[in-house]
Amino acid sequence: MAGNREFLNRRLHSLLGVIPVSLFLVQHLVVNSFATRGEESFNAASHFMESLPFRYFLEIFIIFLPLLFHAIYGLYIAFTAKNNVSRYGFFRNWMFMLQRVSGVITLIFVAWHVWETRLAAAFGAEVNFQMMANILDNPFMLVFYIVGVISAVFHLANGLWSFAVSWGITISPRSQQISTYVTMVIFVALSIIGLRAIFAFV
Ligand code: HEM
Repeated sequence: MAGNREFLNRRLHSLLGVIPVSLFLVQHLVVNSFATRGEESFNAASHFMESLPFRYFLEIFIIFLPLLFHAIYGLYIAFTAKNNVSRYGFFRNWMFMLQRVSGVITLIFVAWHVWETRLAAAFGAEVNFQMMANILDNPFMLVFYIVGVISAVFHLANGLWSFAVSWGITISPRSQQISTYVTMVIFVALSIIGLRAIFAFV
């Protein structure tokens, strides 16, 4: 019974990591990249997102709760679960470890980022281009954002690799090798999109 619940929690954690959390992260990076077209473009894109119908429902059920479950159960996996990775090679063992490290860094970054943007907005601050420019004006915050975005994107890309294994999509060594290349391309592409947006505010 307990084993069954553990299995279901693992499946839910895995599924939520992709749908909706990864999809949300990609959408968020794309909206941010409007900053590369200038202040007005970014503000228009961000106001459009803020004015979506059912905004609070979407924020709570598509972003907040799935991310909360994935993060809390992710911490449990990262710090307590015993995993058998002996059938994978040196590279995959590193990726396995980095998946956990990047999850924890991403959690710290996302918590801070939500605090200084979304929660600040709830208390009346206006989240716009100028706000991000002010935050990233501080060299410490600039480095923090660069590390946070790269960590989140790495976690997403490497997570897609393990997702494909755990859902039986990539079973053979050859398909897992191809999946390594595909997820590396995803990592590089999303890193470029994320970093270009950050530097557009600087
Ligand atoms: C931007 C936010 C995040 C995204 C897009 C994301 C995405 C993913 C994806 C796609 C997976 C692969 C699922 C699988 O292995 O089947 C995954 C796994 C994982 N995530 Fe996240 N995640 C995020 C945040 C977090 C946070 C905050 C933590 C907290 C520590 C975390 C911890 C983990 C762990 C430990 C795994 C590995 C699970 C395993 O090997 O079974 N993630 N994540």
